[in-house]
Amino acid sequence: MKSMPKIELHLHLEGAAPPAFIRGLAQEKHMDLSGLFNPDGSYRFTDFWDFLKVYEAATSTLQTPEDYRRLTLAVLEESAANGVVYSETFLSPDFCGGRDVGAWKEYLHAIRDAADQAERQMGITLRGIITCIRHFGPDKARETAVCAAETAGDWITGFGIAGDEKVLQPKDFLWAFDCAREAGLRITAHAGEWGGPESVRAALHDLNPERIGHGVRAIEDLALVDELAERGTVLEVCPGSNVALGIWPTFRAHPIGKLFDRGVKVTVSTDDPPFFHTTMAREYDMLSDAFDWDDSVFATLNRTALDAAFCDTDTRSKIA
Ligand code: ADE
Ligand code: ZN
Repeated sequence: MKSMPKIELHLHLEGAAPPAFIRGLAQEKHMDLSGLFNPDGSYRFTDFWDFLKVYEAATSTLQTPEDYRRLTLAVLEESAANGVVYSETFLSPDFCGGRDVGAWKEYLHAIRDAADQAERQMGITLRGIITCIRHFGPDKARETAVCAAETAGDWITGFGIAGDEKVLQPKDFLWAFDCAREAGLRITAHAGEWGGPESVRAALHDLNPERIGHGVRAIEDLALVDELAERGTVLEVCPGSNVALGIWPTFRAHPIGKLFDRGVKVTVSTDDPPFFHTTMAREYDMLSDAFDWDDSVFATLNRTALDAAFCDTDTRSKIA
């Protein structure tokens, strides 16, 4: 499965940082982050909320545009090695310069520089989705949206929301989403991972996103599943993430197959691969084993992802 060309729509840049990379940065900066790691070097967390804490602590080692340049190269190298040819990646002004527009532009310049290098050397294309973080609250999300609007263009193509779905409501972030939409950015929102169908409905009806990050708990309400299918809303499904965090016990128990069979536009991504001990190749292997999916199903999933990508038509035809 490694060599099959893959389109990934849902990857958090900081969440894709290999633990050894973060340990290296911590050492350079004389930070003691040993508590974040297991004895075998992997990230240590007990549940989703602990994961968010470890994620943010690991991210505290990323302090300069140069750190992000190196991170972007490391992440794209790993994605390319797993057959990813196009990666839509969540970028957060919260972590890149503290939502200051000037600093954000410097971080973005460094990330883009690395992405251009990776495209030349490894044939992988990156597009950025600026994401606000739900548990940081609506005021910070406004500042994030301003950063996004200031840098919207051919390379920054979308706006989204991640973080703890159990706090606040999508409608609390309307200003930020309206601002991003007015700047021409396309919309996705995390929902239906830790919240149930009501959370998916709120994101769908209040933010009107083209795509939903996860969305998989919609399976608990078949009327909602049918609504997603009718609207053509694309789900950025991350089965390995959901299994690693304990939402479902195995790939076989994961609802992606049922959602697909009922006509929902599903795609496959990794979310935060080293945290969840996964890669795009592993996701494909596990799905193939769990659901007996052959190459034609994966071709369909990739076609759906390509059609749903927030890039321009030139880029789409180049990667097709
Ligand atoms: N940020 C990084 N990974 C996330 C996830 N799985 N859910 C919500 N926010 C996230
Ligand atoms: Zn995510």
